[in-house]
Amino acid sequence: MKKIATLSSFLLLVMLFQFCTKTDSPSISNTTKTTVTPVRTFTSYNYLDTYPAHIQEALATSDNTPSTNPITNDGANLGRILFYDKQLSRNGTTSCASCHQQQNSFSDSAVLSRGLDGAFTTRHSMALLNIRFYKSGKMFWDEKAASVEKQALQPIINHIEMDLTLEQLETKVKSLTYYPSLFQKAFGTSLIDSALIARALSQFERSIVTYQSKYDRVKQGLEIFTTAEAAGEQLFLTVPANRTCASCHNPPMFITSSPSAPFGLDDANDLGINNRGNFKSSSLRNVSIRTNLFHNGSVVNVQEMLNAGNPGTGKQAIPSHFLRTADIANMMAFLNTLTDRTILTEAKFSDPFAL
Ligand code: HEC
Ligand code: HEC
Repeated sequence: MKKIATLSSFLLLVMLFQFCTKTDSPSISNTTKTTVTPVRTFTSYNYLDTYPAHIQEALATSDNTPSTNPITNDGANLGRILFYDKQLSRNGTTSCASCHQQQNSFSDSAVLSRGLDGAFTTRHSMALLNIRFYKSGKMFWDEKAASVEKQALQPIINHIEMDLTLEQLETKVKSLTYYPSLFQKAFGTSLIDSALIARALSQFERSIVTYQSKYDRVKQGLEIFTTAEAAGEQLFLTVPANRTCASCHNPPMFITSSPSAPFGLDDANDLGINNRGNFKSSSLRNVSIRTNLFHNGSVVNVQEMLNAGNPGTGKQAIPSHFLRTADIANMMAFLNTLTDRTILTEAKFSDPFAL
């Protein structure tokens, strides 16, 4: 009742306001008349999904969400808008999504990504899937950011990527009329600062979890693997004999911050983690629909990765990452079951500025 009363008095006020402006308008000349643009509104979504049991188990042991920044719907909704907002770059051309495209599993199909003035990044864009399952929370191919929150502002201050100072960022976000109320909802304050921007972005990113693949339906007993897929899973769990794929890409999210051994693709130009030639790997989910893999994007696709070193390929085998020709089709069949296409089009992960 109280709500209806407040609502009707609000409507009354709006009507009165319109009436007043109407009667006033003749005194204002048409050319100088200022139009009040309505504050932009966005659809809100639910980000608090109930994950199937096998995913919840993985979350219990590997979640990097800090107690100071749990995912809330209002936080992730705000994060989505920030993630897609090109105003967060110096010249208004580039958002996080420019290089982390939904249709490409939040990576970029190109080898390297184009920044705000056309210059390219020095590494391949990472797929932002299941990043909350990277227990240590360390981000970037060389793990140089200590947490998702600490990573979130790096692309904004990076001169090639978005190129704003934190001060300019705060001023910009404050000047956009749609933000104060969104920060109010998400954090109970309309005092916007870069720390809150980082928190909202992190909440959105952590909500990007793939759990609707064939692999997930099989783990829930809702479907079964074909013979080839089952054989591929066995290979994944048992080869290479001394150090299995699974020991560095842990199921069910196919990601781990404590692999059985360090690894990195040979690269004279990039020495990765602590300059030791090693790199992290992001989640292998959706990897069979991605192109230009590894930190420098030099491996065209999974098929080529597994086949390198076999007779006729003319390529050198990648250590730990090749199979006998006879096994490749089965491994491919298995990796295909990790593909979750819902994530590529789901509205809650899509561009809120698209018409
Ligand atoms: C111009 C392209 C570009 C833009 C814009 C960009 N990124 Fe990235 N992103 C990359 C590249 C390239 C990497 C890998 C960089 C590296 O490891 O040195 C990366 C890595 C990341 C990672 C690390 C993922 C992991 O698993 O370690 C996260 C998280 C991320 N970006 C989030 C963001 C956010 C949030 C924004 C917007 C504020 C953003 N990116 C804007 C290209 C971009
Ligand atoms: C010793 C640990 C280790 C083992 C064993 C291993 N990997 Fe990897 N894998 C990595 C690391 C680290 C990277 C990223 C390296 C880089 O970019 O330089 C990677 C990259 C990949 C990529 C590219 C991912 C991307 O996002 O670009 C695929 C696909 C992959 N591995 C699949 C496999 C398969 C299949 C096997 C088993 C045949 C396997 N891996 C065995 C550690 C390992």
